[in-house]
Amino acid sequence: MKFDFFTEKTPPLIGVDISSTAVKMVELAEGGRGSYKLQAYSIAPLPKDAIVDGNVVELENLIDAVKLAWKLLGSREKRVALALPTASVISKKVLMSKSLTETEMENQVELEANQYIPFSLDEVNIDFQTIGDALNNPDEVEVLIAAARKEKIEDRIAVAEGAGLKVTVMDVDTYATDAAYTLIASQLPNGGSDQTVMVADIGAFMMHIHVFHDNKAVFTREQSFGGGSLTQEIQRRFGLSVEEAEIAKRKGGLPESYESEVLQPFLQMIATEVARALQFFTTSTQYNRVDHIVLAGGCSAIPAIETMVQERTQVHAIVANPFHQMTLNAKLKPQQVVIDAPTLLIACGLAMRGVTL
Ligand SMILES: Nc1ncnc2c1ncn2[C@@H]1O[C@H](COP(=O)(O)OP(=O)(O)OP(=O)(O)O)[C@@H](O)[C@H]1O
Ligand SMILES: [Mg+2]
Repeated sequence: MKFDFFTEKTPPLIGVDISSTAVKMVELAEGGRGSYKLQAYSIAPLPKDAIVDGNVVELENLIDAVKLAWKLLGSREKRVALALPTASVISKKVLMSKSLTETEMENQVELEANQYIPFSLDEVNIDFQTIGDALNNPDEVEVLIAAARKEKIEDRIAVAEGAGLKVTVMDVDTYATDAAYTLIASQLPNGGSDQTVMVADIGAFMMHIHVFHDNKAVFTREQSFGGGSLTQEIQRRFGLSVEEAEIAKRKGGLPESYESEVLQPFLQMIATEVARALQFFTTSTQYNRVDHIVLAGGCSAIPAIETMVQERTQVHAIVANPFHQMTLNAKLKPQQVVIDAPTLLIACGLAMRGVTL
């Protein structure tokens, strides 16, 4: 496999997000008239500590979860796109002369990389892409360089291959989210154009913030916060195992005090964290306002979360659904798709690599 964060399109493949709590798969197809069709998706839970801080820890457990996810998906496709966690990739934008040939550019990338990558170059894989003309100089182009430790890439490939799948694309979480954002933008007034939109992906342990202005990524940040703390509180209060607490979260059945004494305070915490991220963004960048907040990640499945966030921040808030304009395979249940959609951003962004519209 070529290490290619940036290769535009490839043959059909499945998007596979190996996150801290689950293996998630999405398979898309062409849906006609320039749109996608959601063929299938699946979510297979991971035992705690199979992935820690984005690193592969328990290989066998991960392989089993990938096998299960693939079985649940019910596809025949074995080619997959994986992503590295953003934190294990070093990216940097540099300016280069337009007159460089492809080979000269490659040499230049290696030279540049040498300066800011804290590893020897034979330990890393490097990829780069020209993004566009430099703002202030017509003779220069802006180039995005991404580098990752070979070891991290090989660990993830071993998981997929152990499950009998073939990795044809290795992407980065952030870039996959950016790709999926193009589908979410159409949920917003004017398709998001000219507006500043903050996506808050609140998973189990991390909250990833991505801000787009006029549909271009302008800011990212991550911090540790997520639904795991709600799970812990449920375990502690009601004497449940992690697995039981996870089921209770989704399916209900907890004592009456849960709603007011556990869930509401957690929702308040989410609203506070989002409000803080908003404030950090507006005070540390040239932007002084955000027009919309899009909530993603598993925590966004909590009913009325958008109302809570909107009340606290005074910014219009919605829940992400990258599939909202897609035709759905007849075997999928539309209501369930809406519930699962916010956790499938990365898998969806990866799956988009396999479809040419
Ligand atoms: N219906 C629900 N109600 C409340 N919480 C939910 C619901 N569904 C999922 N969650 C919570 O969402 C979290 C998982 O979200 P997600 O799948 O986005 O995380 P992840 O991508 O595995 O985590 P991370 O991004 O931190 O690696 C878990 O804490 C889970 O309990
Ligand atoms: Mg996640």
